[in-house]
Amino acid sequence: MIDSRPFRVAIVGAGPAGMYAARHLLEPPAGTYLDGRLVNLATCPVEVDVLERLPTPWGLIRGGVAPDHPEKKAITRVFDEVVRRPGFRFFGNVEVGRDVLPQELSAWYDAVIYAVGAAGDTHMGIEGEDLPGCYSAREFVAWYNGHPDHSDLDIDLSVERAVVIGNGNVAMDVARILTTPIDVLERTDIADYALAALRASRVREVIVLGRRGHLHGAFNNPELEELGELPGVDIVVEGEDLPGDGEVVLDDADAATLRKVDTLRRYAHRPIVGHPRRIVLRFLTSPVELLGHDRVEGLLASRNHLEHDPATGRLRARPTGEEAVIDAGLVLRAIGYFGTPIAGLPFDDHKGVIPSADGRVLDHGTPVPGTYVTGWVKRGPNGIIGTNKKCARDTVRSFWADAHAGRLPRADTVDAPTVREIVKQRQPALVEYDGWKAIDHHERQSGQVLGRPRIKLTNTTDLVAQARCHQ
Ligand SMILES: Cc1cc2nc3c(=O)[nH]c(=O)nc-3n(C[C@H](O)[C@H](O)[C@H](O)COP(=O)(O)OP(=O)(O)OC[C@H]3O[C@@H](n4cnc5c(N)ncnc54)[C@H](O)[C@@H]3O)c2cc1C
Ligand SMILES: NC(=O)c1ccc[n+]([C@@H]2O[C@H](COP(=O)([O-])OP(=O)(O)OC[C@H]3O[C@@H](n4cnc5c(N)ncnc54)[C@H](OP(=O)(O)O)[C@@H]3O)[C@@H](O)[C@H]2O)c1
Repeated sequence: MIDSRPFRVAIVGAGPAGMYAARHLLEPPAGTYLDGRLVNLATCPVEVDVLERLPTPWGLIRGGVAPDHPEKKAITRVFDEVVRRPGFRFFGNVEVGRDVLPQELSAWYDAVIYAVGAAGDTHMGIEGEDLPGCYSAREFVAWYNGHPDHSDLDIDLSVERAVVIGNGNVAMDVARILTTPIDVLERTDIADYALAALRASRVREVIVLGRRGHLHGAFNNPELEELGELPGVDIVVEGEDLPGDGEVVLDDADAATLRKVDTLRRYAHRPIVGHPRRIVLRFLTSPVELLGHDRVEGLLASRNHLEHDPATGRLRARPTGEEAVIDAGLVLRAIGYFGTPIAGLPFDDHKGVIPSADGRVLDHGTPVPGTYVTGWVKRGPNGIIGTNKKCARDTVRSFWADAHAGRLPRADTVDAPTVREIVKQRQPALVEYDGWKAIDHHERQSGQVLGRPRIKLTNTTDLVAQARCHQ
């Protein structure tokens, strides 16, 4: 049975997954588009508080999506509309696990949905990985996007060659940002200090290492094709293993893969013009060890062959024994993000996720009442922004099923105004939605003068100070 007061739900994390969850919970009267028709998921009024550790919302849309891809950030308009729905509150600059604890949220709210993403890295587990000059792509991306946790990173771009390890879209992003002409970046919202560093950059060559073959890149076609359009950049595909025309047929590969191979083949046959910069796509190669004394000077790389892995049914890379040294002063590992635990919540150290079934958090296999997950912390660090829409919807459906079945422990210790008071006591520098709009307005205005979408504030002190301007 559902009693008459609105359900009170906390969502932790204001990235796409958290915001899609809020959107599904605060459904407009017309309902949610599901299986080709509009249905009402929400069967009772709901109030949603989104708690976000940064003073700014939108997660990786602000801190991950590449600055030269502004069209991908347009989805925030949809989230802005959700914010205006009755029952929504934003508590920014509030970290769950530091300012408020999971057990407190469970006492204050009828349900809590964790949408905290993946704040850590997958590691290669090889010698030299911790040498200065080797960063995860996560750190590098956060640096150029002005994430306050990484704005003081001292990235040395005085080197001539960088190596990017991995063949996903993040690898494509970082290779592109390192080689994009500065006048293009000057029209983006890239962090000012990163723009200055890239303006002075001496990086001339970026080698992207894929451990498997030309057919196995995890990048998407548009991201691969974009490389070929970079002005002033030669694309080199080391292609001795590249399947020839007609050698890959639809039985072996889907249409998207065929298109990738076609693009790679086109790059491989394109004359090298001798542009100021170049990107080398090298396949069937893995780092074995990072070399250097005080900092990275290069890496030892192994040539791979592919063999069938019966456990996964995939082809896996295996070293052939042939090894070579690549000189490089900067190494970026773009081999995947990885979730980090929050004290007081179950965590799967092996997968880097909060264990769950149908979005319900599991503790040793048993559902924790009123506790849910969505997004990267549920599925692992994969999927584009839109993937989180369905993921959040599935979680919200489980929430409603539990609400109807009387499986939610209804919280009655504190009311909504009291929760805000407690949060404000814990974090006096609380940034609410008006505060974020003040930041947003200031950033856009500063950018407008220079023909840029915005100039980001990149440390928490400045962000909080700007947020207070609306008061
Ligand atoms: C570099 C990069 C570029 C990408 N580019 C694109 C692209 O161009 N197009 C596309 O469709 N997809 C892109 N993606 C994928 C997309 O960004 C993800 O699918 C999506 O952001 C995952 O959403 P999420 O909400 O699970 O996580 P996130 O976006 O990471 O959001 C998690 C939020 O939780 C907050 N948080 C974490 N811990 C706490 C805590 N303890 N308390 C409170 N808040 C907390 C974080 O600050 C963050 O705001 C990109 C991904 C990366 C890594
Ligand atoms: N423009 C966009 O839409 C955009 C931009 C950025 C990110 N994203 C999305 O965000 C998600 C995360 O992207 P991602 O690039 O971080 O991850 P990803 O897509 O999972 O790619 C990871 C890459 O790293 C390789 N790898 C993993 N472990 C390795 C190791 N030990 N040594 C060498 N290589 C290794 C993988 O190779 P194997 O295939 O051999 O495992 C794969 O090529 C993806 O879903 C992506 O599509 C989208």
